[in-house]
Amino acid sequence: MNIQSAKPSGDRTVLKRQRNSFVEVEYSDIAEKMLSRSDVLYIRKEDQVFVVGEDALNFANIFNEETRRPMSEGILSRKEKWAIPMIRMMVERILGEPEEEGEEHAYFVCPANPVDSDLDTLYHQKTVQALVEDAGYTAHPINEGMATVYSELSDNNFTGLGVSFGAGMTNICLSYYAVPVLQFSVARGGDWIDKQAANSTGVPVDRVTREKEEEFEMDFETATGDIQGALAIYHEAHMDYVIEQIADEINEADVEEGLDVPVVVSGGTSLPKGFSQHFKQRLKEADLPFDIASVRRAQNPLTANAKGALVAAITEEEEGEVPE
Ligand SMILES: Nc1ncnc2c1ncn2[C@@H]1O[C@H](COP(=O)(O)OP(=O)(O)OP(=O)(O)O)[C@@H](O)[C@H]1O
Ligand SMILES: [Mg+2]
Repeated sequence: MNIQSAKPSGDRTVLKRQRNSFVEVEYSDIAEKMLSRSDVLYIRKEDQVFVVGEDALNFANIFNEETRRPMSEGILSRKEKWAIPMIRMMVERILGEPEEEGEEHAYFVCPANPVDSDLDTLYHQKTVQALVEDAGYTAHPINEGMATVYSELSDNNFTGLGVSFGAGMTNICLSYYAVPVLQFSVARGGDWIDKQAANSTGVPVDRVTREKEEEFEMDFETATGDIQGALAIYHEAHMDYVIEQIADEINEADVEEGLDVPVVVSGGTSLPKGFSQHFKQRLKEADLPFDIASVRRAQNPLTANAKGALVAAITEEEEGEVPE
């Protein structure tokens, strides 16, 4: 949904973001003049003009075009031939140029390979790495679930289970003293929930997404017969599916028994009220080789992973693992 960055500035953190969206508009001299005088992010390729990021939706409405996504299913879109030039622009915009010496290291968040699809994330990782390096930085990949752990579990020696509930994917990482013991993803997230709820109710998916983001809450009553009911059903189905994969992977991985593991959830899909309570209840019922000490939501679920990448960069710099 968003391409984000977090940068330190004195003792503050500056966050920047671009919407994962672009639209093609018809080229004309006037359009180009207008665009070049504005703040709108755009790119011209011969007689094609693309408006990128936040403004794409406005332009799509004016020109009656569909927006397209450079990223889908958690990685660079395989179906979108313009994905890479668009992401390149967004990366340049959110990172800016390195300003000071010592600023030139950038940690970027990468999904793990999904356990339930044959999708491989290496191509995505290497491509994004190259784009970040072209923007003037030394690029270091960090796993997405690990980024959640870095963001939220510094008080617990970066030990715990981080689950990032995104749009295209859900990323899971079990970390023990900042060492990932287990990391994987499932190829489902908020988009899957929206699609299932839309299919079941016959309501267009954009409307389902809007209703979900504006008013959906997870309570413990089973509602039926409307969009909210369908959303509740598919949120629960998604949670159960994720927990089933966690149990399978952890039991297979031979993780040390008897640990007391704190769990943190992040990502936009964890935003509905009641989400973490539901997740906690279901996790506690699951067959896991350790105890769940607590389940809580990241302070800011939408920015936690960008913040986590920054915490990882700072921590590794302090430990001398990144040369100054
Ligand atoms: N207030 C909200 N309530 C419920 N869902 C929301 C809310 N805001 C955003 N979402 C959903 O969260 C998802 C986007 O979350 P996030 O930005 O963490 O994903 P992403 O990082 O873009 O995706 P991925 O990690 O798969 O690449 C979308 O499915 C969106 O509909
Ligand atoms: Mg994400």
